[in-house]
Amino acid sequence: MAFETLIVEISDHICLIRLNRPEALNALNTQLLGELGQALREAEENEKVRCIVLTGSEKAFAAGADIAEMSQQSFVEVFGSDLFGAEAEAILRCRKPIIAAVAGYALGGGCELAMMCDFIIAADTAKFGQPEINLGVVAGMGGTQRLTRFVGKSKSMDMHLTGRFMDAEEAEKSGLVSRVVPAKKLMEEAMGAAAKIARKSALTTMAVKEAVNRSYEMPLREGLLFERRLFHALFATEDQKEGMGAFLEKREAQFRDK
Ligand code: HXC
Repeated sequence: MAFETLIVEISDHICLIRLNRPEALNALNTQLLGELGQALREAEENEKVRCIVLTGSEKAFAAGADIAEMSQQSFVEVFGSDLFGAEAEAILRCRKPIIAAVAGYALGGGCELAMMCDFIIAADTAKFGQPEINLGVVAGMGGTQRLTRFVGKSKSMDMHLTGRFMDAEEAEKSGLVSRVVPAKKLMEEAMGAAAKIARKSALTTMAVKEAVNRSYEMPLREGLLFERRLFHALFATEDQKEGMGAFLEKREAQFRDK
């Protein structure tokens, strides 16, 4: 499907989704979030796609939810339609790994969108923030919950209460992002990571994603059991035999997702 607010390219088993509303620093409006949900659904259904990279422009990953679109809405409208509820679910439903490649601003809903991805690779130009407080609201797509889990209470409170931005260096130090690279190298780094993931067994990448995400949703004991059972279950796959056999035969594994 063709999109108006996204540029989607699929090559070498990687689906690259680029947010494309340059006139509004990729602010997340209804159309963009709807198209993003659709693009992720298509990527999920496309057998050729083994990893997804989500990115924006050099200036902005996304500067937040679209303030112009939201400003005049009433409580009845946003509560009644559960604004951003279905949109967030559509992103979280994706079982394939999603890497956020962030340059420039990732603010409000933009920061939340990056945090909904499986990990974040940041350019040295990236700036993260939850400045909703300046608009008289709080985060609405997971910011108070995910940022707190990622960077701890003190830093999260600081970000949410003051609305200050965090640069890439601070974001890496505090665990929000997995790597920081020079802006020029961002896409090379993200696509390289995606290519590596694409060569793994898709059964295993899905299992990793489910298990790591459970660490935020389950008590430790349940999470440990969930992980161990997944580990056991993967012994039922041909890919486990292939992966371990290839190691012993000193060759690269050829996974077949079986
Ligand atoms: C709508 C936005 C926007 C946004 C930027 N623009 N952010 N439009 N919604 N979130 C538009 C501007 O109005 C402007 O349009 C154009 O993009 C360029 O932005 P400038 O402000 O001129 O650029 P600059 O001076 O470089 O400042 C960049 C910026 C600033 C620091 C990122 O734009 C900014 O503070 N934006 C708002 C950030 C924010 O508060 N985000 C949280 C939103 S609430 P024109 O037409 O004037 O050129 C939110 C709630 C999440 O996300 C709830 C769940 C999703």
